[in-house]
Amino acid sequence: MLLTGPEGLKALTTAYETNRALPGFVAYNLETVQGIAAAAEAHPGHPVLIQAGSSPFKHAGRAPLMRLALDMAAASPATLGVHLDHSRDLDEITACLEAGYTSVMIDGSHLPFGENIALTREAVRRARDHGAWVEAELGALPGDEDVSTNAAANPAAMTDPAQAAEFVAETGVDALAVAVGNVHGLTTEPVRLDLDRLSAIHSATRVPLVLHGASGLPGNQLRAALTRGVAKINVNAELRRAYLRAVSARLPAALPGSDVVSVWAAGRDAVTEAACRIIAQLT
Ligand code: 13P
Repeated sequence: MLLTGPEGLKALTTAYETNRALPGFVAYNLETVQGIAAAAEAHPGHPVLIQAGSSPFKHAGRAPLMRLALDMAAASPATLGVHLDHSRDLDEITACLEAGYTSVMIDGSHLPFGENIALTREAVRRARDHGAWVEAELGALPGDEDVSTNAAANPAAMTDPAQAAEFVAETGVDALAVAVGNVHGLTTEPVRLDLDRLSAIHSATRVPLVLHGASGLPGNQLRAALTRGVAKINVNAELRRAYLRAVSARLPAALPGSDVVSVWAAGRDAVTEAACRIIAQLT
């Protein structure tokens, strides 16, 4: 079942109020969308977001991936939202809203504060016309969207609680992605979040917070984040690693007969297992 925007916002608010979080899993292709949907189907009653967003569009093409995610969500018995991750482009946001996305992320975190506010406001205005909810970002997160780079967090680029409060009040966003020591991609050293900063942002904003870069986050850090306003976590690298490991393990047996379907299936099932492990930590 594909969540509408208002249903998705209700799920996000409920997670926020009960110290839980919606998982947002990044999908690039048929097998990752299938793998995520299967994980959601294994957890009835736990909404899951398929993040078919800007970066994967570069691989799959916007229209095909958008349709794939929306059609798969609509056909599934699980409760699934489809979310546009990390968009800097208002035209892209409009296209996803018109197609029926549950929610969109406008990422103006690279812009000066005032320009981030202006861009986010416009995204919120467009989303309201479609009943969708909006995530924005304040503060800079190190690392790459598609490749783990072992980047380290920069305290100077983290989200400032007072600015976050002003940003939320000025833009009317439904959820705010924060930089509190989190990193995109898997790192050699486990990530340590700045939990005092997260608590301060939580008290100052009172909107659901989003933790990007949740791959590899130690369980105690994740649990602490859930009690400090984090109501959505984004996961990509862990699914990518699971997919690649399964595919490489399957290849020797598949190559002689060019059995490509068994390789894709192994990758898909590994994504499901990895996503199930994450969902289990959130319930
Ligand atoms: P990871 O790759 O660290 O899981 O981060 C994913 C993410 O934040 C997508 O927006």
